[in-house]
Amino acid sequence: MRIDIVTVQPGLLEGAFSHSILKRAQDKGVASVHVHDLRPFGSGKHFQVDDYAYGGGAGMVMRLEPLVACIESLQSERTYDEVIYLTPDGERLNQGIANQLSLKGNLILLCGHYKGIDHRLREHVVTREISIGDYVLSGGELAAAVLTDAIVRLLPGAMNDETSALSDSFQDNLLAPPVYTRPAEFRGWKVPEILTGGDTKAIDVWRHQQSLERTRRIRPDLLEE
Ligand code: ADE
Repeated sequence: MRIDIVTVQPGLLEGAFSHSILKRAQDKGVASVHVHDLRPFGSGKHFQVDDYAYGGGAGMVMRLEPLVACIESLQSERTYDEVIYLTPDGERLNQGIANQLSLKGNLILLCGHYKGIDHRLREHVVTREISIGDYVLSGGELAAAVLTDAIVRLLPGAMNDETSALSDSFQDNLLAPPVYTRPAEFRGWKVPEILTGGDTKAIDVWRHQQSLERTRRIRPDLLEE
């Protein structure tokens, strides 16, 4: 899978993909992530990428031409399955969307800034709009990093233990059960006995019960879905 991220703040994404699972996925050729600075596609002496909003009001709007030029230069090299705009007024990211997108081949992610992008791009070029939650970030870069991480870690070969993505929270709309490691006792804080007893069937049942109980208590909305 290939992910191309278009941004006016490439520095914000520096290093975001060169650690841990994302690094391993790229080293193994499972995914490649490319960050593109929009600025060279801007116009005039200052490579302007934004302009005043028609109709007035505070805040600048990202201009159509640089975005279209950058996207079309990418599309001239390969076909893309989706052009995704990260925006607080998009559909809210969840595990199901990450799963869906992990099955795609090539994605373009657009990071908004200022008041957002000229709406015509959303109407004519963008194929999907995604928010990472009901709060406003200063730009789409961190949201693009979150989305990229959520997708890439699902790709076969990205994780050491191939089965571990399946036991993540949300994979079955349940929160994950609690986990423990050695020592079995620390300051009198004990690991639940069932986990050290070796009865794998009983452990599976216990974990499922814990998942249900935690979901009911912390995220009852997931059980209604
Ligand atoms: N840009 C600014 N805030 C955002 C959010 N919550 N999700 C996605 N993109 C954003």
